[in-house]
Amino acid sequence: MNTFKHAIVRKPAKSLVDGITTHPELGKPDYELALRQHEAYVGALERCGLSVRVLPAQEEFPDSCFVEDVAVCTGRFALVTRPGADTRRGEIAGVRELLAEYYDDLEEIRAPGTIEGGDVMMVGEAFYIGLSSRTNADGAAQFIAALERRGYSGRGVKMPPTLHLKTGCSYMEEGVLLVDRAFAAYPEFASFKRVDIAPEESYAANCLRVNDYVIVPAGYPKALAAIRAAGMRTIELDMSEYRKIDGGLSCLSLRF
Ligand code: GLY
Repeated sequence: MNTFKHAIVRKPAKSLVDGITTHPELGKPDYELALRQHEAYVGALERCGLSVRVLPAQEEFPDSCFVEDVAVCTGRFALVTRPGADTRRGEIAGVRELLAEYYDDLEEIRAPGTIEGGDVMMVGEAFYIGLSSRTNADGAAQFIAALERRGYSGRGVKMPPTLHLKTGCSYMEEGVLLVDRAFAAYPEFASFKRVDIAPEESYAANCLRVNDYVIVPAGYPKALAAIRAAGMRTIELDMSEYRKIDGGLSCLSLRF
């Protein structure tokens, strides 16, 4: 099982209210509430035993609090990504220098490749990479080559119309995979102990296993009960303001 010691998060910018969204009907985020939810998120990571580094807000990038997308942190190396969303590409400035404080071995994705960390799901030494509108085949191939050079494996996963791979499935360790209906018939995931997320609770397909806990978005009772029934300890967090701009629990941190 992966054990994490560190997390990196980025304070939400006031421009967060203009983050990319496929759910405008949910309304704009309330910035003050988003800040409080972010503080609770940091507190939850600390409760899971992590030392949390909070980076300053980047007003020029509305989605920059979703720091998971700018890097992939493995046990052996870290990757600086190249986000597929044009408005997010500049978020990688300074990320290499930041990661160099923790890693000796760094890689970065080169054009024309794109990859966002939300499309990368780590299952032990195997990595699943969603070929989404944000992550292209070239970016996935570069990442897979980097993985294989270090003894890991990687494989691309064809995507349904879902933002990121981890929008629709999350690995909970111990062989357990949370799966949204969009991924239910995927042969790639047939060997997992699958916890199927009810369609009306699909947002809860993005949960976060951190050491001894699973962090679950508040307000999804079926998902919560299923995760507890799988024997896992849970922490619930209100994510209402991030959901409005397509952000989930995993998006808000890098963990390693
Ligand atoms: N709003 C998060 C994203 O689209 O990347």
